[in-house]
Amino acid sequence: MSVLKKSVLALTVSTSLVMATASLAQPASSEKHAVYATELRQSIFKLLGSNMGPLGAMAKGKIPLDAKVVEKNAVRINQLSLMIADYTRTDTTKFDVKTEALAKIWQEPEHFSKDIDKLTIASSKLIAAAKSTNESDIKKAIGGVGKTCGGCHDDFKEE
Ligand code: HEC
Repeated sequence: MSVLKKSVLALTVSTSLVMATASLAQPASSEKHAVYATELRQSIFKLLGSNMGPLGAMAKGKIPLDAKVVEKNAVRINQLSLMIADYTRTDTTKFDVKTEALAKIWQEPEHFSKDIDKLTIASSKLIAAAKSTNESDIKKAIGGVGKTCGGCHDDFKEE
């Protein structure tokens, strides 16, 4: 078994623990709680966006590819992916918060967990590709991560 397959397997095992707790959605207890939970949730996604931005630009050839930066950001994206379940657990649908999150997140927790897992796995593949420093592998793996962002947005985020 390749090192990559092994590490993906190890990640799948560790993220299944995350998935087990992800289905325990908790309704926000007050408007203040809902606002704070929404801020935390959006913070995770903002950080994902900030780490993905340069990688997208590298994949498109808008800025030079730098395998070290790709690896650093891919590690961050991987770690952030493991925080999504915790920071999306509070169901804020009963309150009037400014959000693009769809109620489906709390109605279809298994599906949402699967979309999180896809990002965890794609980012671990990107870490491995960045270590290999093979330019076309890296670009392909960046595309793989981007697909999982877009996939979850199609399923769980307002346009
Ligand atoms: C498992 C689902 C899921 C994955 C995976 C995911 N997102 Fe999102 N993203 C969301 C949801 C839901 C929102 C809306 C959050 C809200 O408004 O409360 C969001 C919002 C965002 C936002 C707007 C944040 C803000 O409020 O300013 C950005 C930027 C973003 N995502 C980038 C990314 C990037 C980049 C990736 C991949 C590296 C990614 N997301 C992966 C579900 C996901």
